[in-house]
Amino acid sequence: MALSVGELVGRGEWAAVNRGWGRPFVVYKFAATLDGRIAAEDGSSQWITSAESRAEVHLLRAGCQATVVGSGTQQADNPNLAVRGNDDPRLDLSMVTDPGRQPWRVVIDSNAKTPADAKVCNGAAPTLIVVAEDADAAHLDGTVDVLRVGRADRGLDLHAVLRGLFARGINGVFLEGGPTLAGSFIAAGLVDRVVNYVAPALLGSGKSGLENAGIHTMSDILRLDLIDVSRVGPDIRLITRPVRKG
Ligand SMILES: NC(=O)c1ccc[n+]([C@@H]2O[C@H](COP(=O)([O-])OP(=O)(O)OC[C@H]3O[C@@H](n4cnc5c(N)ncnc54)[C@H](OP(=O)(O)O)[C@@H]3O)[C@@H](O)[C@H]2O)c1
Repeated sequence: MALSVGELVGRGEWAAVNRGWGRPFVVYKFAATLDGRIAAEDGSSQWITSAESRAEVHLLRAGCQATVVGSGTQQADNPNLAVRGNDDPRLDLSMVTDPGRQPWRVVIDSNAKTPADAKVCNGAAPTLIVVAEDADAAHLDGTVDVLRVGRADRGLDLHAVLRGLFARGINGVFLEGGPTLAGSFIAAGLVDRVVNYVAPALLGSGKSGLENAGIHTMSDILRLDLIDVSRVGPDIRLITRPVRKG
């Protein structure tokens, strides 16, 4: 790994967050094919990238304080989201083998559709389900933490979500998608770094890494500064930072 885990997830920049953003630093990670697809037409996405890339993702999760997904990903993939070393026994993840030291697992889930027996609700790591103020989340009582925030035009108010995470001491968020949630984060200017694993493969159809990011014409294109390009097993990892306008 050319850059340290801290550099990959922008930990050096978190100090600026602490100085007054009032929200965590957000790292958006996604795994895509050469034609930018993050899932096949039928919604399946496991696995686009190699075991080496997926193992590294556990290290990056461990480098942040919360792993965040949308309810669409929760329903499609039923992910565990805990940091695990079993994808590559060479990884030293001893710092997070204790569930008390695992990053938070966070699902952005307006209507509390996450079932209590979802993998993300197991005891492997702390879990926070973010729901709307009026959502019926009774089935989650006693299983996981629930944070209530207001609704927005689309889903939940992401500024309020991030303020809620920041208030819990979370300064760095690892956003793992999916594309609908990530599109809203990009549209709101709330992504600070993009970590993109690109597999030498093609799908030709299926979702791309971002949906509805509020970009409709070339003059609105979001340019990114390239921080690093590295090879991870058979894949390429790109680290970029959105260029802020103005
Ligand atoms: N290759 C990869 O790296 C990767 C990573 C993750 C997922 N995936 C794939 O992506 C697919 C799922 O993605 P998806 O786009 O359908 O779902 P998603 O982005 O995971 O979740 C979208 C849902 O999040 C909720 N949400 C709450 N607040 C929101 C807001 N402000 N903006 C947007 N959404 C908000 C909404 O549902 P509610 O109204 O119910 O809250 C929305 O429908 C699956 O096929 C999965 O396998 C691939």
